[in-house]
Amino acid sequence: MNRREFVHGMSLFGTSVLITGCGGGGSSDPVSTPTPVPPAPVPVPDPDPVRVFDLAIQKANYRLRNQMTTGLVSLSADAPPPVLITNQGEKTQFNVQNGSEDHTAMHWHGIRLPNQMDGVPYLTQLPIAQNETFKYEFTPPDAGTYWYHPHCLTMSQMAQGLTGALIIKEKVDPGFDDDHVVNLKDFMLDENDQLDTPYTLRNASRGGTLGNYMTANWEQAPRYECSAGGLARIRILNTDTTRIHEIHLTNTNLKIIAWDGHPVEEEIPVPSAENPLVLGPGQRADIVVLVSVVEEDIFDIIAKGNQGPQVMASFVAAGVSLNRQLDEVTPLPPNPISQPDPDNAEFLDFLFGWSPVGLEPDNGFCGTLGSNFWSINRVAWPGDNASANEALATLEQNKTYIMRLQNGSPNTHPIHLHGLIFKPIYSNMRHIPANWTDTIVLQRDEIVEVILVADNVGDWAFHCHVIEHQKTGLAGFITIA
Ligand code: C2O
Ligand code: CU
Ligand code: CU
Repeated sequence: MNRREFVHGMSLFGTSVLITGCGGGGSSDPVSTPTPVPPAPVPVPDPDPVRVFDLAIQKANYRLRNQMTTGLVSLSADAPPPVLITNQGEKTQFNVQNGSEDHTAMHWHGIRLPNQMDGVPYLTQLPIAQNETFKYEFTPPDAGTYWYHPHCLTMSQMAQGLTGALIIKEKVDPGFDDDHVVNLKDFMLDENDQLDTPYTLRNASRGGTLGNYMTANWEQAPRYECSAGGLARIRILNTDTTRIHEIHLTNTNLKIIAWDGHPVEEEIPVPSAENPLVLGPGQRADIVVLVSVVEEDIFDIIAKGNQGPQVMASFVAAGVSLNRQLDEVTPLPPNPISQPDPDNAEFLDFLFGWSPVGLEPDNGFCGTLGSNFWSINRVAWPGDNASANEALATLEQNKTYIMRLQNGSPNTHPIHLHGLIFKPIYSNMRHIPANWTDTIVLQRDEIVEVILVADNVGDWAFHCHVIEHQKTGLAGFITIA
């Protein structure tokens, strides 16, 4: 067993942070040491170091609004899910212990990992029952901003708050002066600030149900400090079940450096109130902002709220100016991505639309909303259980594919693929910057073509990330063999 450190409540990332030590050094467990201190043992290098996180899913209480909200779900009893931080290329283990009475399974959104570690019930593992622990272990190949959320009882557990950031640090520190996580997530609260039913079937068959209390890191409009005149990396994650966020910042001295985890290859324009950044559920943007040189100056992240623009988070300039410049921001080092071969690509068609029959989903350990409204290629997902559908397509390992994603409905669908990344190369409606992603927003009547290399073997879930759509049929999987 390697040494572990548990650091909770650090403000480094603007929310609670969980960091573990890595093997290789001597023991530094926080046991009380008698004086005089004995000579330190010669450290023995660990032949196979692994960074270990013990994550206990449990009920939590937290003051989201005015009164204490009970019945939330987190990884501690009284705080939001922590920001988990590990390193690119470092073997990492997450021991997920289920301390709630419901079944669960943890998914690591956007991470390219071995299929058995993907956390999809029945497709890659059995659901984790009460008091069981599932050991997830993988070596993240890519640096960037990712996240974790349950994939069993997804609607209820995410609505109860179990969505957290997973940061994979670059091998070489890119040298920003601050690094903040802004995890955007709505809650549905009643007048006593308790959790209310997060969806209606009527909305599930349309655009989905928006929460009535918008938060960043479980807070309304939290304020964080940034070094004056410094370069602040702001990692914005949309972990909501439904909301297609439209955001901009009041400081436009910025560069978007990463999109859905990966370094930007085609520039993304600076967002404004008129041309906001559209971030669908599941998506992330890493933005580097040149902070004002004037102490106490503030900039905000503004989102389109239910009743007009809403401040999601604010950043205040602090300290003596560092006098950095925006042109000091160089591109992040590229992640190890297989380059597609478009000349030899095979086309695959996917149609996202209505469910053809009034098919009722099966009620298993992982929950259902009781109806199916949606389908992929006219086949509705029967629910997360052992009687799953066949694969939507079987792909040959390492071959290039162009997936034609067609929205056959009047609603917006953020389409997400597990275990792989793809790049948009065509839309019938607009120009989409050609950046690597795991989730793409399909607008009404839109057809988007994306290209990918099928370089990760397994059964990979493929679904809409509006969870009400996912749980009412708009889900499936592809197989790479
Ligand atoms: Cu973040 Cu299958 O999802
Ligand atoms: Cu995912
Ligand atoms: Cu959808």
